[in-house]
Amino acid sequence: MATAESILSFDLVHDKIRSCREVPATVGLYGNFRGGERLRNAISRMMERTFMGVEVDPSHICISSGVTAVLDLFFFATCNPGDGCLIPAPYFPAFDNDMSIRNEVIPIPVQPTDTRTYIPTVHEMEEAVLAAESKGIRARMLLVTNPGNPLGTLYPEATLKELLLWAVKRGLHVLSDEIYANSKFGPSVDEFVSMEKVTKNAVMEGLLSAETAAELVHTAYGMSKDFGMNGFRVGCLHTKNKDLLEFWQNMGMFAAVSNDTQHALAIMLEDENFVDKYVKENNRRLKKSYELLTKSFEAANLRYMPACAAMFCWLDLKSLLTEPTFTAEDNLWKEILDECRIVLTPGQACHYAEPGFFRVCYASMAPASLEIACARLTGFAEKKRRKRKSRDGQLDIDTLRTNH
Ligand SMILES: Cc1ncc(COP(=O)(O)O)c(C=O)c1O
Repeated sequence: MATAESILSFDLVHDKIRSCREVPATVGLYGNFRGGERLRNAISRMMERTFMGVEVDPSHICISSGVTAVLDLFFFATCNPGDGCLIPAPYFPAFDNDMSIRNEVIPIPVQPTDTRTYIPTVHEMEEAVLAAESKGIRARMLLVTNPGNPLGTLYPEATLKELLLWAVKRGLHVLSDEIYANSKFGPSVDEFVSMEKVTKNAVMEGLLSAETAAELVHTAYGMSKDFGMNGFRVGCLHTKNKDLLEFWQNMGMFAAVSNDTQHALAIMLEDENFVDKYVKENNRRLKKSYELLTKSFEAANLRYMPACAAMFCWLDLKSLLTEPTFTAEDNLWKEILDECRIVLTPGQACHYAEPGFFRVCYASMAPASLEIACARLTGFAEKKRRKRKSRDGQLDIDTLRTNH
């Protein structure tokens, strides 16, 4: 349950992609290293139709082998070693690798003051920039993930607008990772809004110039999550930044997607009827698994943050810690692994400042296996509480009861 991977709907993709496998002679030749025209057209159309809410020009798309490669190339192009990237915490643990392993960009986790919604504020960002500066780190970038990993929540449009305007005013690049944009199953008061739409609106309202927006605002998307196709290694960057587009034309060769894969994928995405039916059915399955998981948490009085998107649930196991430290969090993680044979992602790996939280991915297994995993996890929690009760002489059930 620690891998951000969905197997829930691959049966549908599997059947479809097999029927899209033709091999024209051109697949044997070098192609455009920003991605072939056919796939750039198909992915643009899919993005604009299904989640972006703005026109997507295929000439603004750079295709690479997964969003991981997109981020690596993006940081290489936009940052110098030692520059900083602001990221609202908790965040996807692998971002650290994506930005630092080759590019030596320093992640700057920004902790939320509001620990009920975890919604970041401009004030927190500003403080983080100043704190980084005092350590000699110059922030160059704001990276937001929407829908979120590990929270599975959506940022309100007003928050995105505030962050966007603040960041561009400070001359920061804004990268919105929207890799889960087609995995939404509500109920949520705030519908998903792409940063591209927020940017377009801000330009129309005269709050931002079109030139600045083109230079600084970028979005990443990929096939790994919503379509469960992480093994295909396909991701893309949407940018209007001319230097970046030119850069990708050359450097894209280091992380290009094979023409064969591009061709099959283009055929699949061109089938709008398939895409729409797939997205709907995938969200139905995600919702079913999410509900199975959260019902079992509720029955066991385990607290969690309500989610409405992506494939994660943020579980609060503070009450099972022996003390409020990351050592205790680590010990609890090991106990869960040993006793339940379940691997969770600890909050510390997601750079969350308070010990005791875990990311649970509920889409990496079939519902029948998920039921077993839930039973083990809740059984483990109950056993720990019983032990504590007999040790302490009383059970403080209130601290375990969910508010949600
Ligand atoms: C938010 C986010 N971005 C990027 C990635 C990387 O995806 P890819 O398989 O396209 O490299 C992941 C994978 O877990 C993710 O959760």
